[in-house]
Amino acid sequence: MLYQRPHRPGPSAIAKPYRFRRLGGFVDVAPALAELDALPAEAWLPSQWKWHLGTRFLILRGGPSGVAPGSALTAGGGVDAPALASLPALRALLDEAFPEPAALAWVGLSPAGSRIHFHVDNTAHWDAHHRVHLPLRTSPGARLCVDAAFLHLPAGTLWAFNNSRPHGALNTGPDRLHLMVDLPATPAVEAWIAAGEDVAGAPDPAARQALCRNPLDALQPDDLKGDLLVRLLDQ
Ligand SMILES: [Fe+2]
Repeated sequence: MLYQRPHRPGPSAIAKPYRFRRLGGFVDVAPALAELDALPAEAWLPSQWKWHLGTRFLILRGGPSGVAPGSALTAGGGVDAPALASLPALRALLDEAFPEPAALAWVGLSPAGSRIHFHVDNTAHWDAHHRVHLPLRTSPGARLCVDAAFLHLPAGTLWAFNNSRPHGALNTGPDRLHLMVDLPATPAVEAWIAAGEDVAGAPDPAARQALCRNPLDALQPDDLKGDLLVRLLDQ
């Protein structure tokens, strides 16, 4: 069950023939973590999407900033967020850790006990890019789900993740940090992904049921600031 407006991928949508695919390479994430740990708490935006309520995020690169907080994530790519100027290790990851510079990038903070309810990523830009996860700080209690398969992704590993299929996450461990980037489907990126290894994940019916709930059931008073509620109800 998806509590989401129907989404039909457009003509620019690419094939994503994987759920979880382990990609080549391993990243020393310590420099990036040191930068993130030095940020003030207010650098992290509360989720602007109902499926992610209770999580926080830090935009590194996106489209032009709009009026709504976080709107750069749905406005294309290629524009560095102001925060990136003081995060050189993260900037180096975006530009050097992948076969192409990241078009879009952010860090997702999933606090202990948080969930991301099932949804599909539903912009034309997201349809047209491969989503890659680089876990920065995580524990076995932090799992992603695509369709009905759950998997923990270890820190420093690189994964193609199918964000065009119904997906979600839950974290029963301490705070979890993932770097997420969108890469264009160039020949170099396609070759890197084609050389990866699919990992099936495991079913967990109880966890899946928890992610199938209406995410607005988890609304908290802090989620109702400004016009956020209007946006949540329109999603
Ligand atoms: Fe998503």
